Amino acid sequence: MTETITILGLESSCDDSAAAVVRLRGGEAVILSSVVQGQNALHADFGGVVPEIAARAHAERIDLCVEEALEAAGLPLRAMDAVAVTAGPGLIGGVLAGVMCAKGLAAGAGLPLIGVNHLAGHALTPRLTDGLAFPYLMLLVSGGHCQFLIVSGPEDFSRLGGTIDDAPGEAFDKTARLLGLTQPGGPEVERAAQAGDAARFAFPRPLLNRPGCDLSFSGLKTALLRLRDGLVAEKGGLTAADRADLCAGFQEAVADVLAQKARRAAAAYLAMAPAAPVLAVAGGVAANARIRAGLQAVCADLDLRFVAPPLALCTDNAAMIAWAGIERFRLGHVDGMDLAARPRWPLDQTQPALIGSGKRGAKA
Ligand code: KG4
Ligand code: ZN
Repeated sequence: MTETITILGLESSCDDSAAAVVRLRGGEAVILSSVVQGQNALHADFGGVVPEIAARAHAERIDLCVEEALEAAGLPLRAMDAVAVTAGPGLIGGVLAGVMCAKGLAAGAGLPLIGVNHLAGHALTPRLTDGLAFPYLMLLVSGGHCQFLIVSGPEDFSRLGGTIDDAPGEAFDKTARLLGLTQPGGPEVERAAQAGDAARFAFPRPLLNRPGCDLSFSGLKTALLRLRDGLVAEKGGLTAADRADLCAGFQEAVADVLAQKARRAAAAYLAMAPAAPVLAVAGGVAANARIRAGLQAVCADLDLRFVAPPLALCTDNAAMIAWAGIERFRLGHVDGMDLAARPRWPLDQTQPALIGSGKRGAKA
């Protein structure tokens, strides 16, 4: 393969404004630049992402991210083969800011425009980082997403199940809030859990008694709230040990449910008899060592390779959007100036929409 494709990607669907340049040459993908400007400080006082604040910040920053990404790549806009942009799903104001910017760039430089599904960006990342062949099993676990997918092609995704309410990262963040820990909650809860006894409190294992791979995490947060209030009523407050035990019990429940559902998803995937079976993960929650260990144990048991892209490419970024753009571009799939920004955009159009929409917007 000798083709060279260089694509500028833009991402603005949640609380990260990002731009990146990715090049495919001779079958090798290289990230020439990847710029991510987070918005944590802007939303810190509100306990979650405020869509209007996010949209305004994206509109102010996305073109600066593009400038920085092109400069870091050492290439002018006209050296691109196309401009790829997240066209959904996500917070609509942010998605619009990115799509408008990408349209302006594409029109100005006479380049093709490629609309990318944000979830496809996450799901295709292991091909950018590890050169995975189709089909592979993917678990997306972040603050906004949670689903099991069989990825069979750049535009061929089949969803085996997903969360019907909160995403796991959201549940970690809410747990942290309930226990007075700082945001984002995932790393804080994981740290506290290290000193904790996961067996002291009984946390439920939601939806395990139902067949299939759908998940639910909002009940875990309610269980934690009850346990916390019980302790406060009994002793007037929480000790560090109480906090650690609550975090450990909660984390164990999330890890256990994800591992058990991964086992079910793997069974459905292995029925396709893939030549080189793989479970890949993406999303910030994949950073959690206990959750990772649970998934790795399932993989070892079922003879699947476990692939986790570097964390900076697991969390929201634009390199994944540029890469997904390259995948679409190679198929000859480009969009026109009528490309729409979509708040909801399920990857698998054959599956019914998952109910639920958390603080980070629509799940799919
Ligand atoms: O993928 P991501 O950066 O952003 C989106 O949600 O789009 O994921 C962020 C989420 C947050 O909810 C954060 O609390 C969670 O991932 N997270 C973790 C850990 N590190 C980040 N959750 C559990 N354990 C961790 N170590
Ligand atoms: Zn994401």
